[in-house]
Amino acid sequence: MIGLGHVGATVAYTLVTKGIADELVLIDTNSDKVVAEQYDLMDAIARLDTSTKIVVQDYAALKDTDVIISAVGNINVIQQDGDRFGELKFNEAAVQEIAPKIKASGFNGVLINIGNPCDVVTAYYQELTGLPRNQVFGTGTFLDTARIQRALGNKLGVDPKNIGGYVYGEHGESQFVAWSTVTVNGRPVGEIEADYRINYEELETDSRRGGWYIFNGKGYTCYAIATCAVKLARAVLADAHLAAPVSTYHPGLGTYVGQPAIVGKNGIESLVFLKLSELEDGQLKSSAEFIKQKFDGLNR
Ligand code: LAC
Repeated sequence: MIGLGHVGATVAYTLVTKGIADELVLIDTNSDKVVAEQYDLMDAIARLDTSTKIVVQDYAALKDTDVIISAVGNINVIQQDGDRFGELKFNEAAVQEIAPKIKASGFNGVLINIGNPCDVVTAYYQELTGLPRNQVFGTGTFLDTARIQRALGNKLGVDPKNIGGYVYGEHGESQFVAWSTVTVNGRPVGEIEADYRINYEELETDSRRGGWYIFNGKGYTCYAIATCAVKLARAVLADAHLAAPVSTYHPGLGTYVGQPAIVGKNGIESLVFLKLSELEDGQLKSSAEFIKQKFDGLNR
């Protein structure tokens, strides 16, 4: 786990309490904080049914790890009601610092990036680690998809996990809900829209801006994103072949972008290409274009 802020610490706690990792390496620029997290987690282990060996600040230990999760960021540069590009400069420099160390360790597992702006940072990690593209992906719109599941599920009185479908595109402002893929208990949402007077636009705002609602209230978000990251890490460790919308390299669009893929032991096992509407196809292209432009603007 690289980056032990609110998100990284929540990921670490979840990994330990769920007994997912037999060994966990914690790395952060703040050594006091990372050692404190280590002790707090080790004290929890006495009360858990599983055990995890916790190591700190050891890049060399990454050589044998199966999964790296990066949650690097700087909360102080994020503006209320802003966008995720506030952290770009900070995370660009962070990747320049961290990626060569990952590379030098001989790491050859799967790297999952959470850091924002997620798609651009993930692409940069891939470039600077030199890892194959399938071995580097971002949490991307897995989180935004959870938010639309929550928003639509709440409206209909349906548990969020029974809402199907995907948010595509950037984990940011240019994302969109691919409504043509959305189902409620398996039924296409279009079949029930008249009965429930579904306001697509309002719901979509919930997915796009949901993170900011939380950020403005508590100063950060952690539980949903950590749960997404842990589910993806578990899918890699268990070779689950989980279909999930993540930030992955799309060869047709020539960029990392949020779209459904099969996640297994090799990271991205394959992409899932659904038939989108013409409007959605256009939205995906323009979101990809936006990400590409931002990536090209990095100081590489
Ligand atoms: C969020 C942050 C992690 O949307 O981007 O909660």
